[in-house]
Amino acid sequence: MEKKGRMKRPLRVKIISMGNAEAGKSCIIKRYCEKRFVSKYLATIGIDYGVTKVNIRDRDIKVNIFDMAGHPIFYEVRNEFYRDSQGALLVFDVGDRVSFESLESWVQEMQTEVGDRSECDNIVVCVCANKIDQKPRAVDEAEGRIWADSHGFHYFETSAQTGEGINDMFQALFEGVVTTVENGGKKAPFQTQLGYTKEQIEVIQRLKNSKSDYERLGLVPGASKDDVNKAYRRLAVLLHPDKNVAPGSEEAFKLLVSARTALLKRCS
Ligand code: GTP
Ligand code: MG
Repeated sequence: MEKKGRMKRPLRVKIISMGNAEAGKSCIIKRYCEKRFVSKYLATIGIDYGVTKVNIRDRDIKVNIFDMAGHPIFYEVRNEFYRDSQGALLVFDVGDRVSFESLESWVQEMQTEVGDRSECDNIVVCVCANKIDQKPRAVDEAEGRIWADSHGFHYFETSAQTGEGINDMFQALFEGVVTTVENGGKKAPFQTQLGYTKEQIEVIQRLKNSKSDYERLGLVPGASKDDVNKAYRRLAVLLHPDKNVAPGSEEAFKLLVSARTALLKRCS
């Protein structure tokens, strides 16, 4: 007789980590598996292998983790480990823009090494925007989310140092992988949760990064009252917090209002 609440068949899954050297891949894995953080940098040499066990929706999962070295000299070692992966961490350091800009090349490396396009498309990927405990940031949350979303990847803000975001990220990764396995190896269609556009993000960034009020409104010195009001109205539509839910929209909207006030004073 079938026992009530009997566990489903245990699963074995393979997870890899990708991202530039020093982004924090090994520390994220260590934080999750060993609940500790090591501040000294110990570069992974080629590949590190570890096993952990989790239970997802009444199913025991044996997770094989292949933690890759990010340094280019280890390409010849790590390239063999991409195949048959079901999940991947794609890590960048929020304080290091180059590590963010390299994400695309990591995706390309994964596609090349996995070979089979459909196998690659079914790998569940979690982008980790890591080291959020450190300031200043070179990549803000909105930009990271937009990038991940446009690739159909999950996005998490993490800190291996404090532990923030780490459990949630692994939970989502494992759940995504189990769902894929239960779906015959086909990843569930990605549902965007963003609710904002690239254009809205770019406007926020321009407001925050501009050095003068003219620049904020996309104008040049000498612009008329009419120019200022027109530019203000155009940007207000994109930025108003009722319409723009992207991180940073409220702050950018305040900058827009004060830029308009200051420029109108100059015009009169
Ligand atoms: P490779 O193995 O060379 O590819 O690097 P990696 O991505 O595995 O980086 P690793 O985990 O070794 O971390 C690199 C450095 O960043 C170490 O000095 C860590 O202590 C530090 N580090 C990692 N995660 C965090 C974090 O969330 N916050 C802070 N402040 N430092 C971190
Ligand atoms: Mg490492």
